Amino acid sequence: MSFDPNQPSAEIKSRVKESYDAIADTYNKWTEGHSDLRRQYLDKFIAQLPTASAAAGTQEVPQLRILELGCGAGEPATRILASLPGAQVTANDISSRQVALGRENALKWDLDASSSVRFVEGDMMDRNVVDFPAGSLDGVVGLYSIIHLPKDEQAEMLARLAGWLKEGGILLANFSAGESEGMVLEEWLNQKEGWMFWSGWGEGTVEKLQGAGLEVVVRGIEPEGVDVDFLWVLARKVKASV
Ligand SMILES: C[S@@+](CC[C@H](N)C(=O)[O-])C[C@H]1O[C@@H](n2cnc3c(N)ncnc32)[C@H](O)[C@@H]1O
Repeated sequence: MSFDPNQPSAEIKSRVKESYDAIADTYNKWTEGHSDLRRQYLDKFIAQLPTASAAAGTQEVPQLRILELGCGAGEPATRILASLPGAQVTANDISSRQVALGRENALKWDLDASSSVRFVEGDMMDRNVVDFPAGSLDGVVGLYSIIHLPKDEQAEMLARLAGWLKEGGILLANFSAGESEGMVLEEWLNQKEGWMFWSGWGEGTVEKLQGAGLEVVVRGIEPEGVDVDFLWVLARKVKASV
């Protein structure tokens, strides 16, 4: 179904939130089948984390400050990230149900004493919810989540997170492989309460990342047997943003 370009961003987000609150369990079960690809890219992300190489061969537990945007119920990404020794993960999601499930799941995770995870509920674009000092993060992960923002906000988010990353810090995210002003499905996953919105810059995402001071180190279009293909990106912060 086509997207109404006059629909205000706040309304899109409140509908996306309501939908995930209603269909979280269905989505989480459905998406288990896509976990392998997440694991493969998370492995690449972990290998690229700046302190992973700095601390190699020493007894030191590296401190890893990681932000995850749109973490859902935390499986598998938040769990994998929070399982890294020294990881301090901030896991954000707009859906109260997803955050509640994430907190519940995290109680079962056997985390290292040096690691922690903090769930933060709200819109990732709200600076009262997600904000960090410049150059303070080692890594940012956003899997199937930034795509729910209107296109202009995606560009703004890429610029913000480039600012939060320290030099050498790494981003793992996926985006829609094709450009889209907005796409709406009224009943995503066959759910009556599953109104959903996505948008994206397609290959233009790479330009936005580069413009924000991030160097793309891995880029892959991954068909996943769903309606759209995803552009997966690992990008490194190469210079302080202004
Ligand atoms: C497709 S799910 C992905 C969840 C998880 N990252 C995964 O890989 O399964 C998208 C998640 O992003 C969250 N989300 C959507 N819009 C958001 C926003 N503006 N701010 C924060 N989270 C958002 C949703 O609530 C949902 O849990």
